[in-house]
Amino acid sequence: MNYPQILKEIYEEIQPYAKTGEPASYIPELLKVNPDRYGICLRTIEGKEFALGDSNERFAVQSISKVFSLAMSFGRVGNKLWKRIGVEPSGNAFNSIFQLEMEQGIPRNPLINAGALVMADVLLSALDYPEREYLSFVRKLCGNDMIQYNESMATSEREYGYLNAAITNMLKYHGNLENDIERVLRFYFRQCSIGMNCRELARAFLPFADHTRPFSFDGTELTTSQVKRINAIMQTCGFYDEAGEFSYLVGLPGKSGVGGGIAAVCPRKYSVAVWSPRLNPKGNSVMGMKALELLTTKTAVSIF
Ligand code: DON
Repeated sequence: MNYPQILKEIYEEIQPYAKTGEPASYIPELLKVNPDRYGICLRTIEGKEFALGDSNERFAVQSISKVFSLAMSFGRVGNKLWKRIGVEPSGNAFNSIFQLEMEQGIPRNPLINAGALVMADVLLSALDYPEREYLSFVRKLCGNDMIQYNESMATSEREYGYLNAAITNMLKYHGNLENDIERVLRFYFRQCSIGMNCRELARAFLPFADHTRPFSFDGTELTTSQVKRINAIMQTCGFYDEAGEFSYLVGLPGKSGVGGGIAAVCPRKYSVAVWSPRLNPKGNSVMGMKALELLTTKTAVSIF
């Protein structure tokens, strides 16, 4: 497969969308980023890397971190996780609260905010030094010890995070949080604030693309079956109320973030990370979605 040529063609063909969409405005720190950035990195399971554009520039991973949280909490507590979180697509916005009330404080899945807040609680209880160990896990996954939390991003999110605070209160009311609300929120916002570039993200997602190899990073161990299930959850729940659309257009398990990043995997072939901060109304990167749609069209390979 001539990936360098394919990435070049994709870049040219997505230019008509270069000014479509707006960066997320509800986190003031995100507005400081140039909205016209675009980067992509594809990494094959043989370890070859192909990158183009602003693939070395770090951005806030935001909800992509929910996959790291899932790996860590599923690895630590196993199937007990499913007593507190479901595995059904929500069909609603990432920060929706009404379904959580209807369903008595059990989040639909781990990749919406309510699910990630429960996973933050699970990790706060299961780990000795949760924030340090979380960062250390992500560093090991992407092979770079320089990855950091962005404290000003996390603080700015907490300042305006009324809905996440409401969700956390709802979870606590229904007995689905063990730890202090403020501690859970703080940990969650720090996870979202982690800065990574496309190369680092592609590397971090590669272990999810090959569930035949042992998954063992910094004390987080997953079985083949668990890695396979994480892929299934990304496929059905990784794009909130646009999960069907992403499946239809792209056909890969993946996860988006409001920082404009998308990470996806083509099982047994490659991982890919793309970044462009302009988002569609559902909170997913316009150029990122288009680039991945073209990638699976041009390569004629997806999970289907
Ligand atoms: O909880 C929030 O609002 C954000 N920190 C994360 C949301 C996010 O990335 C949703 N993704 N598309």
